[in-house]
Amino acid sequence: MIRVSGLVKKYGSFTAVDGVDLDVEPGEIHGFLGPNGAGKTTTIRIIAGLLRPTAGRVTIAGHDLETSPEAAKGALGFIPDRPFLYDKLTAGEFLRFHAGLFGMERNGVDARVRAMLELFELSRWEGELVESFSHGMKQRLVMCAAFLHKPRAVVVDEPMVGLDPRGARLIKQVFRALSREGVSILMSTHTLEVAEEMCDRITIILRGRILARGTVDELRALAGGEHEELTPVFLKLTGGSGLQEIDEGV
Ligand SMILES: Nc1ncnc2c1ncn2[C@@H]1O[C@H](COP(=O)(O)OP(=O)(O)O)[C@@H](O)[C@H]1O
Ligand SMILES: [Mg+2]
Repeated sequence: MIRVSGLVKKYGSFTAVDGVDLDVEPGEIHGFLGPNGAGKTTTIRIIAGLLRPTAGRVTIAGHDLETSPEAAKGALGFIPDRPFLYDKLTAGEFLRFHAGLFGMERNGVDARVRAMLELFELSRWEGELVESFSHGMKQRLVMCAAFLHKPRAVVVDEPMVGLDPRGARLIKQVFRALSREGVSILMSTHTLEVAEEMCDRITIILRGRILARGTVDELRALAGGEHEELTPVFLKLTGGSGLQEIDEGV
C-alpha cells in the first residue's frame, strides 16, 4: 500500500537517507525503528509529499507521488511529530476545515467528524477551542484529521512521544482497529518497546540505511533467537557501533 524504493535525501553533502526501501501491506502496522537522527522523519516527510527526495520513488495505493501527487496524497493520511493546529478553532471547526482541504463531500462530513471524535474519545470537546487542549488531546485531534478522509494508508511520526499511559493505550487500540479495517499504518519510533508491542513488522534504520526488516520473532531470530528483547538484535546488526546512538534514542 505504501511502497518506497531507492529513496535518497541529501542535505548539501550530508546524506540523511541513503537508499531506503519500504513496503507496507494493506492492513499492516509497520514500525520504522531507529535512534534519533537515523532518517525516520526525513523519510516520512518525503512520503507525505512535504519534502522532495534526491532520488527514489514513492507510491501510495499504486499512485506515484511524483507523477500523480493528488491521487497519492488523497490516499494518504499524515500525522507529523510536531503537529500544527489553529488555537482559535474548535475541534469540530478544525476537522471540518481539514475535510475541506481534502475535498470531502459536504454531506457525510458531519457524521464522519462525529465518528472520528468518538473513536479518539474527544466527542465532549467538539465545541472547545484547541488552545484549551492538553498535548495528548491535540495529538488525538490531529489523528482524527489524518483518518477523516478515509485514507488507505497513514504515516505517523513518533506517535507515542509525550503521551500518558491512558492516551498511549487508546492510540494502540485505535490503530489496531483501523488496521483491521484494512488501513495500512507506517509508524516511526525510536523506542523498541513501542515497535515490539504495536507492529506486525518492523524495519530498522540506522544512519539513513536499512539494517533489517521482519516480524519481532524474525528479528529476534537474527540475534540468535534466545533473547526476549530486541536490543541484542541492534547490537548484532550494528556490531555495537550504533549502540550509543540507540541508547540516546531510547
Ligand atoms: N533540514 C535539514 N538540513 C540538514 N540536515 C538535516 C535536516 N533535517 C534533518 N537533517 C539531518 O538528517 C539526519 C536525519 O534526521 P531525521 O530524519 O530527523 O532523523 P530521525 O527522525 O530518525 O531522528 C540527522 O542527522 C539530521 O540532523
Ligand atoms: Mg524524527
